[in-house]
Amino acid sequence: MYRSHHCGALTAIHVGTEVQLAGWVSKIRDKGFVLWVDLRDRYGVTQLVLDEKRTPAELLKVVRSFGRETVIQISGTVLEREAKNPNMPTGEIEVLVKDITVLNTAQTPPFTIEDETDGGEDLRMKYRYLDIRRKPVQKGLLFRSKVALLVRNFLAQHEFVEVETPYLIKSTPEGARDFVVPSRMNEGQFYALPQSPQTFKQLLMVGGMDKYFQLVKCFRDEDLRADRQPEFTQIDCELSFVHQEDIMTCFEGLLSHLLHEVHGIAPKPFPVISYEDAIKTYGNDKPDIRFGMTFCELNDITQNKGFGVFDSQELVVSIAVPGAATWSRKQIDAWIDWVKRPQIGANGLVWVKCNEDGTYKSSVDKFFDSDALATWATACEAKAGDLILVMAGETNKTRTQLSALRMALAEALELRKPNEFAPLWVVDFPLFEQDDESGALHAMHHPFTAPKPEHLDKLETEPTSVVAQAYDLVLNGNEIGGGSIRIHDRPTQEKMLSLLGFSNEEAKTQFGFLMDAFTYGAPPHGGIALGFDRLVAILDGKETIRDYIAFPKNNSGRDVMIDAPAPLDAAQLEELALKVTPKAE
Ligand code: AMO
Repeated sequence: MYRSHHCGALTAIHVGTEVQLAGWVSKIRDKGFVLWVDLRDRYGVTQLVLDEKRTPAELLKVVRSFGRETVIQISGTVLEREAKNPNMPTGEIEVLVKDITVLNTAQTPPFTIEDETDGGEDLRMKYRYLDIRRKPVQKGLLFRSKVALLVRNFLAQHEFVEVETPYLIKSTPEGARDFVVPSRMNEGQFYALPQSPQTFKQLLMVGGMDKYFQLVKCFRDEDLRADRQPEFTQIDCELSFVHQEDIMTCFEGLLSHLLHEVHGIAPKPFPVISYEDAIKTYGNDKPDIRFGMTFCELNDITQNKGFGVFDSQELVVSIAVPGAATWSRKQIDAWIDWVKRPQIGANGLVWVKCNEDGTYKSSVDKFFDSDALATWATACEAKAGDLILVMAGETNKTRTQLSALRMALAEALELRKPNEFAPLWVVDFPLFEQDDESGALHAMHHPFTAPKPEHLDKLETEPTSVVAQAYDLVLNGNEIGGGSIRIHDRPTQEKMLSLLGFSNEEAKTQFGFLMDAFTYGAPPHGGIALGFDRLVAILDGKETIRDYIAFPKNNSGRDVMIDAPAPLDAAQLEELALKVTPKAE
């Protein structure tokens, strides 16, 4: 037996017990006559004690030779500590060491294995197995495991069955590029790794599985950000004989359950907002509704008053920043510079201070008197003490720019409170997006999404005005899930693919199997997928999903620990009938 207890288990009730522990040496404090060792494992830290009176000199010598992270097994007696540490679960005791076995030696780690480490991101990723020894990283992984279990139990209780779908498949379009795998046995042919199990879960419905779920890896070759990884995990679900409302109710139930189990939050109905209203009110389709600063369009009361900057623009839109009327010119100018940066690309900001004494001061005093500014304040429900910021420009661009400003201001004013949770549904997405230049239609969700039945006849005549039976689940300004009711008949699926620019032949080659399946009695069905990594991070009050993935990729899509991706050797390339032509410089 390596151990009788974990390193986080021993308390005052164990005093006098003979124990065996195993773990890593995390700290040694040597006072000469007495020596303390902190022994660490996943469960905690136990203080070991050795001293000149009670420990053989030989053993003291061995311990003094230990470097940090040496792996040891000890046996000893639990003693009550003289100086207790109430901040540690094992802080009442220490273990007087009688015997030690060194299980493995360790080189000095390249960074300190402590809560606050001196290791930079790159170094920690290269030695991720050492990083995982640190408590914050372990906590993230344990939290992920706990949420996974809650999800599985909830879905199992609601009659969902977990079914695994294949990873070596044909392209499933979700808007990103595919990762592909060459087939040795089928020369010149490739599998694609699934961007999601979309088509398979639909086929499971045709197969009569009724309610499917899977915690499943998805692979997308896209630009990476804090909330995106090239391989990530979805809670993927599909249900038969359901309407949009049934799915929303079920998954609102799941998220409410998680918020209750994890944070003790009592369930409250989630707000539902249309895509159009989300864009108009927040400038994006995944609004953070934990704070106000909602958009107020001012065209009617600001245009044709002799201020050319507003008159010439499509949209004049404002937000009221709470309590910011006291900002100095320098502070306001800093935000004006912020929106003018190329990443945001706005022309500038007009500002109005709604002073506590009821007066107004603005950057456009020459054009607008106090009475006019008062109407702006009323329109945007700005209170005394608020600062109104106004942007003008082309509608879509301006909304995006003001949305970025709203989020950055909220961050700066600490209004994005990590322990506050504000879920909502965004519904009524357009079925298509149109490419500005080519006019080509793209599926806003994916090509299997059903239009609203009452919009079916507009598919051909006014496709861009067709609304989809699609919905997103948003939490604290992050899209944590998305789904739709699916097309389940061949003619509509064919029409959809043809509108998306697939020739008959292409549609048949890529999705013939699905459309064939629809002719064998496909039930009406729909589903949703939640981004599991995102969900876990946000539930834990964070937005960087890397911290909740044991072995994540860096922003260039590399695993710096195993050094992947890597070239293949010539023999392997030949076996796969692949030829690599070096890129011309
Ligand atoms: P969608 O593409 O919206 O839908 O994906 C569902 C959810 O997955 C998460 N997500 C990601 N998380 C981390 N890294 C990524 N690169 C990444 N991409 C997406 C998001 C997103 O909301 N098959 C459909 C679902 C359906 O219709 O049922 C799908 O995959 O949180």
